[in-house]
Amino acid sequence: MKILLLGSNGQLGRAFVELSKSDAFPIGWVLAALDRSELDYSQPKTIETRVRLEKPDLFLNCAAYTAVDRAETERDLAELVNGRVPTLLARMAKDLRIPLIHYSSDYVYSGEGEAPHLESEPHAPLNHYGFTKAMGDAGIQDSGCDHLIFRTSWVFSPTGKNFVKTMLKVSKEHSELRIVNDQVGAPTYAPDLAKYSLHAIMRALEMKATGNAFPSGIYHLTNAGAVSWSGFAAEILPGKTILGISTEQYPTPAKRPRNSRLDLDKFQSTFGIEPRPWTEALKDCLRALKLREEAGLHD
Ligand SMILES: NC(=O)c1ccc[n+]([C@@H]2O[C@H](COP(=O)([O-])OP(=O)(O)OC[C@H]3O[C@@H](n4cnc5c(N)ncnc54)[C@H](OP(=O)(O)O)[C@@H]3O)[C@@H](O)[C@H]2O)c1
Repeated sequence: MKILLLGSNGQLGRAFVELSKSDAFPIGWVLAALDRSELDYSQPKTIETRVRLEKPDLFLNCAAYTAVDRAETERDLAELVNGRVPTLLARMAKDLRIPLIHYSSDYVYSGEGEAPHLESEPHAPLNHYGFTKAMGDAGIQDSGCDHLIFRTSWVFSPTGKNFVKTMLKVSKEHSELRIVNDQVGAPTYAPDLAKYSLHAIMRALEMKATGNAFPSGIYHLTNAGAVSWSGFAAEILPGKTILGISTEQYPTPAKRPRNSRLDLDKFQSTFGIEPRPWTEALKDCLRALKLREEAGLHD
């Protein structure tokens, strides 16, 4: 089984690369990991040739345009990377008869109410990033290829750009922090997202190999629990003064949903695995960050 991982330098891409070196990765499976310099989604004409050369058995798409505020102005590029190229990959997957694994976002929902969103809810994005992610989801579903779309939220990890690293950095510069307290979601640890995805991929392939249908569809996949950004900051920085502020007090170019809670039942009942709480994952991330700092690694 040769997995072609695209976007190997992102939070999730790097988590998969690490996972592939561990005992959890099935014997006989190979991960071919390409970063942006090896396969650039802004050059879609080069993609087909490059991908066919690799002769993959499965696409694992971890590449995405994730700069939510910048997407309001770089609209075409965000649409290309998050919408048109995933659709192209899905059509290739259909043609090659291989599955495509892809990631979507809580930002495809408008975030009304307080109940966790269900996968069956319609898209109603508040910002262009969410619109482009919804475009990718629809393109993949329409292609008819075998696919798993994992819709996740608030991704953090010891590497890359994320809220945990930003909070640790700004806490050194300010005695108190003013953080939004009226947007609620589930922080999701990239190494957990990779681990739970791998479990689901193995289960889905097993289903197909035993004569059942590949369980194509959208699945919410986050760590368990939910918290506001200010609550998340308080857990990252115990003892620090965190002042909760409203979304209106922290204006951003892209609007964000208030309610990013995602219902995990479909993922859990289909694949038989229950994600652990985000608080436990955060402890692992903080430990990993400390080790990286001691080793002089800063990325
Ligand atoms: N981060 C979150 O909070 C969050 C929340 C909900 C959903 N998601 C989804 O989860 C998935 C993984 O996110 P992540 O946090 O791992 O994102 P990330 O850390 O921003 O990684 C995205 C990767 O995509 C690559 N990329 C960007 N433009 C590209 C292009 N034109 N061609 C090829 N590669 C390109 C980036 O390359 P460079 O390293 O060269 O920049 C980066 O390595 C994405 O589908 C994302 O939409 C993320």
